[in-house]
Order: sequence, then structure tokens, then C-alpha cells
Amino acid sequence: MSYYVTTPIYYGNGEPHLGHAYSTMAADILARHMRQRGEDVFMLTGTDEHGEPIAQAAEKEGITPQQLVDRSAAQFQDMVGKVDSTHDFFIRTTDRGHIERVQQVVNRVKENGHVYKGIYEGWYCPRCADFKSDNEIGPGDTCLIHETPLQREEEENWFFRLSAFQEPLEKLYEENPGMIEPDFRRNEALAFIRSGLRDVSLSRSKLSWGVPLPWDPDQVMYVWFDALLNYYTALSYARQGEDLTEKFWPASWHILAKDILKFHAVYWPAFLLAAGLEPPQRMFIHGYLLMGEKKMSKSLGNVLDPFEVIERFGADALRYYCFREVTFGQDGSISTAGFEARYETELANDFGNLASRTLAMVGRYRDGILPAAEPDPLLTADFDGIVGRVGALLDQAQIGQALEEIWVLVRRLNRYVEESQPWVLAKSDGDAVRLDQVLYSLAEGLRVVSVLLHPYLPNSSATLLRALGEPSLELSGFGARPGGQHVERIEPLFPKL
Ligand code: MSP
Repeated sequence: MSYYVTTPIYYGNGEPHLGHAYSTMAADILARHMRQRGEDVFMLTGTDEHGEPIAQAAEKEGITPQQLVDRSAAQFQDMVGKVDSTHDFFIRTTDRGHIERVQQVVNRVKENGHVYKGIYEGWYCPRCADFKSDNEIGPGDTCLIHETPLQREEEENWFFRLSAFQEPLEKLYEENPGMIEPDFRRNEALAFIRSGLRDVSLSRSKLSWGVPLPWDPDQVMYVWFDALLNYYTALSYARQGEDLTEKFWPASWHILAKDILKFHAVYWPAFLLAAGLEPPQRMFIHGYLLMGEKKMSKSLGNVLDPFEVIERFGADALRYYCFREVTFGQDGSISTAGFEARYETELANDFGNLASRTLAMVGRYRDGILPAAEPDPLLTADFDGIVGRVGALLDQAQIGQALEEIWVLVRRLNRYVEESQPWVLAKSDGDAVRLDQVLYSLAEGLRVVSVLLHPYLPNSSATLLRALGEPSLELSGFGARPGGQHVERIEPLFPKL
């Protein structure tokens, strides 16, 4: 099966922060898991490099927009690398391949009769790159999101007949209730659609930093359509000499936060339908990472620097923490103190310590050779069906819940060590068979959780699996591997702070 997962493309005038890393890590967890299941996976992330704010920021700095986005793209590439994202392509909307494909698609939208010339008059927020409708305008004609003054715009430009898609969109979401997750976001999108859709500008005339309209090159495409199309265009040129569109479109999942729900749930499927293309299969709308009560954002200056966190805790710990601390789909506060607490109790103690103890006991009591034994019935029921359960949750992009399911077993294994007391068994020859079973079961339990944790903890899980003598990442249940492996001790997976 083909599985295609995307992240938003991040604005090429900002600096990467943990909020961006969050979406990329989420998509990466799904991508890694599906690869373990043997699916044909494509993961996309990248940068959104056109539009007014970028042109303005460049001008302020006295550099060209291209110079600005080159610098910023490099920072985002660095960031996604540091969080160990395994994206198959990093798209930049200034790529020639993207621009050409965007022009083809917009031509089709026009040929299909969904584009006309008109006068736009209304309020515009340059920071949202969004034309505001009446209910999106704050006191004193300000942007509700940024609380900054809106601009009054009047210009001749090309319009996209969004209003024609009100009914098709309502139908789409009624017929595919799982298309937007979580549910309350789907309801939000539907409410917006039902409140009435007005046509939107497809182009801007006062701007040059963008994709020229093929039939009117004095106008550039409204940046949101240019940006949204990245999910589609990337497939046409990500692999040289190969067009992956047939194989991967429509996307399995778009991952994004609630700030850009309207664009993804309303504009995007409408535009695709207008071009005669299939809408994405599903989108998951996650919440915000908050610092204290506030959304973490560069303009508010309250960002947790992912580079610093990774430097101190490692990428695995960051990936783990974000999906453990915050329910995926809701807002949640994060903090350095929270990091340290979870790192210490869950990663260093629950998981790291369990691993060290297990490896050490096999070393001490069985000369590093894992005994072949029957899986302990005390554990088989707990592990029964775990691979299927985690898979089913990740099919629904329930990243936090899947992690919780796995962590229940990590805790179970810790209790099992206490219950079975291998160090007592080791004292009497009469308990040798039982000790074999306990050691086997511990190691096998650890193997199963490590394989399942791999998407979250790619580095430490790989280290541990190698130490267990079973480097395969293939998903298999408790008791699937016989004993006999050579087991090695390792340095603590998560050294205490
Ligand atoms: N360029 C547009 C997206 C175009 S997609 C076709 C954009 N860029 S952005 O740089 O502002 O990134 C927004 C996205 O970054 C959010 O939707 C979310 O995925 C992520 N996040 C940014 N800050 C975040 C938090 N504080 N918390 C969680 N996610 C955050 O919008």
C-alpha cells in the first residue's frame, strides 16, 4: 500500500522553532511506523518561500528575497535533520519543478471555468497572507490572530470561484466523516463552509515575489494556493526522471495545526476539485505547543529552541516528550522542567534502566547468551495483540495514545522484574529453568517494545535492539523470536542528568 504523509511547509522568513519541529516529528513517526509495516511510504516537509512578508523582510535587510529564503531553508533543513526526520523530500516553493507544476494546475482550474477577473476590495492581513471576512475582523479593523492593523486593499485581480464549491465540500465532508481529525475540527470546518463561501483572490497584482499566472504574468499567484499545491507538485519532481503522482496522490495524511485549518479544509480541496484532482484522503489537525499559557511563536518571543533541547537531551528525548506531554490534537503546555521530569522518570528510569538491568542480568547469569525458553504466560496476555493495537491507533494518527499503549508495557516489564526477582532465582540451581524463562521473557518484551518505540525513539531503540542481538525493526509479537542471541551490555540509553 502507498502511504503519503505531509507536514505544513514553513514560512521562509521565520526561524525554525519547536512548533515546526513538532509537526515534522509527528509526520515522521507515522512514516517510520508505516515503513516498519512494509508500506511504500513517502514523507514530505519543506518551506513556503513566496509572498509579501518574505519580500518585505528581504527588503528590510537589504538582500534579495531569494537570498533570504535560501538562508531560511537551510535553517529548516538543519532543524528537520536534527530531529531525525526521514522525509523523502524537502520541498521549497521556489523550486523550478514546483513553479512549473503550479502553473499547469492553475491553468486547468481556469480552463475548467473557475477563474474570473474582478476587483478585490476588503481587509487583508499581510502576516496571515489572508483576506479577512467580516467575522474575522477585530476591533479597530485588526487581525484577530496577530492583533495588528489590517490593510485596506483594492486591486484588480483574478478570482477563484470558491463559492461554487460550497455544496461539493459539504458533501465531501458528510460522506467522509473521518477526513478531518479530530472530529471537532471537522465540525469547525463544516460550520465555516455552511456559513457561506465567498470567492477568493487567486492572484495579487502589487507583488512580484511569487508564481506568475501563466495567462497574466503581471500577477502572481496568491501565496496560499501556491503553498498548498506543494503537496501535489512535489510528487512530480522529487525523484528525477520519475513521476510519483500516480503512486502517492491523494495524500494519506496532511499533518498541520489548527491555525491553518481553513486553508486546508476549505480552499485546498475546493481548488483540487476545481482542477479535476482528488482531494487528500485525511488531515490531522493538531493543537499548539504552549509555553505557559501562550502559543509558542517567534513574534511572541517565547520559543523553546529545539536545537538547544536536542543538544542537551537528544532527539529521541525531544520526540518522546512532545508526544507524551501533549495530547496530539489538543493544545498543551511544555516546559524545560517538564522535559527534565519525564526524561528522568520515564526515559532514564522506566525504559533506560529496564534495558540496562535486563542486558546486565543476561550477561551475569547466562554469559551473555539469551536462553531459549517459553514466553512467560504472566506476560503473554499483556502483550497479546499489542502490535495490532498500536498499528490501529497509528492508522488514525493517534500518536500519543499509541505511545501510551506501548508505555503500559514498559511499566509492566518493570513490575515483572520486581515480581519475578531474577536475582533470587539466580541463587539456586533448582530455579534455573524459571530464570531462563524470566530472562527470555524480559529480553523478548524489551524487543517488542523497542520495535514499537522505534518511530518515537529511533536512535535508542536501534541501539537497544542491536544489544539484544535482534536488530530487525520488523513488527512482530511477543514470543516471535527464539532465544540464543548474543546479548551485549550498553552505556545507559538515557544518562541521568
Ligand atoms: N506556510 C504556512 C503553511 C503552508 S502549508 C501549505 C504556515 N507556515 S508556519 O511557518 O507558520 O507554520 C505553521 C505550522 O507550524 C502550524 O500549522 C504547525 O504545524 C506548526 N507550528 C507552528 N507553531 C506551532 C506551535 N506553537 N505548536 C504546534 N505547532 C506549531 O503557516
